[in-house]
Amino acid sequence: MNLEEIKEEALRDIESVKDLQELQSVRSKYLGKKGLVSSALKRIKEIPPEERKEYGRKVNEIKELIEERLKKREEELKKRELEEKLFREWIDLTVPVRGAVGSLHPITVTLERIVNIFRGMGFTVEEGPEVELEEYNFDKLNIPKDHPARDMQDTFYVNKPGYLLRTHTSPVQIRTMLKQKPPIQMIAPGKVYRRDDDPTHSPMFHQVEGLVVNEYANFRHMKYVIEEFLREFFQTDLPVRFRTSYFPFTEPSAEVDIGCVICSQEGCRVCKETGWLEVMGCGMVHPNVLESCGIDTDLYQGFAFGMGVERLAMLLFGIDNIKLFYENDIRFIRQF
Ligand code: PHE
Repeated sequence: MNLEEIKEEALRDIESVKDLQELQSVRSKYLGKKGLVSSALKRIKEIPPEERKEYGRKVNEIKELIEERLKKREEELKKRELEEKLFREWIDLTVPVRGAVGSLHPITVTLERIVNIFRGMGFTVEEGPEVELEEYNFDKLNIPKDHPARDMQDTFYVNKPGYLLRTHTSPVQIRTMLKQKPPIQMIAPGKVYRRDDDPTHSPMFHQVEGLVVNEYANFRHMKYVIEEFLREFFQTDLPVRFRTSYFPFTEPSAEVDIGCVICSQEGCRVCKETGWLEVMGCGMVHPNVLESCGIDTDLYQGFAFGMGVERLAMLLFGIDNIKLFYENDIRFIRQF
C-alpha cells in the first residue's frame, strides 16, 4: 500500500467506526507498533536517499491527520454514547405509579375518614381560601370588632388590609350561604391558623366545619348527626355529652365531649382525670349570621359545628404530641 492508499483507507475506516472499541482497533491498525503507519515509516530504508526527507514528512503528515480524525471521532462517539445513556436511563417522573408507594399522612387518613362519614349522611364538601377576608372570618360571623379573638394574640394578619389567615373554617359557612340558597347541608375541611404553639397546639392545624340550613333544622337534629358521626368515627358506642358553651356565631352553643377513649373514663393524663374529652363546638346558627348572608330567618334556621382534625387523629391513633404530624418522620408516617 502506498502512502496515499493508507491515508484514504484510514479516513474511511475512521468515518465508519461505530463505537469506542472499534475506534481503538482502528487506532492500532494504523498507529500501533505494527500498524500501517509505523510500517510505512520503517520502509524508509527502501526509499532512495534523496526522496527520504520528503517521504518522512509525508508519513508524519498522514500520522497527524489520522490522530486528529481519531480524536474528533472519539469525541463524537463519546457524546453520542452519553446521549444514548441519558435517553436509556431517562425516568418520566410524571407517570402514575402502579400500586402504593409511601403511605398516607395520618391527617389525610383522618380527614378522609371524617369526609366519608358526612358524605354518607348526604353532606356536600365545600372549600374556601386560607387567606380570608376579615369580614368573612369575623364580621359576618357576628364577632364584634372588639372581640378578644380578633386580638393580634390569636390571629395572623397579612399585609393586605382586610385580609388574614383564617382562624377557623367557619368563614366557609359564610361563603356557602352567600352563593347557595337553603337547603344547605355541607362540610368544609381545611387548614386554619392561630398564634398558638405547644404540645397540643400548632400554629397551623386542620378543622372540619359543618353547616345545615333548612326550614326545620333543630338542636335534636344536630345532636343526632354529631353523635352518629362520633360513634362511626371511633367505631364504638361512645358516651357523648353536650355542655353549654358560648360562640358568637351560634345560640344556643355547646361543646361536645366524648368519654375518654384512652382510659375508658377511668381517668388519665389525656382527659386530665375527668373521664371526658372535648372534641368539637356546635350550636344553632345565630340569626345575625343568617341575615348577614341574606337568608330570611322567618323561613330558615340552621345548626353548625366545628372540630379539630389533629385532636381527633391524636385520639383515634393514640398520639400524644401534635408536632409529630408536621415533622414528617417516615418512621411515624409509615404507621398509618
Ligand atoms: N369555629 C369554632 C372554633 O374554631 C368552632 C365552631 C364551629 C363552633 C361551628 C360552633 C359552630 O372554635
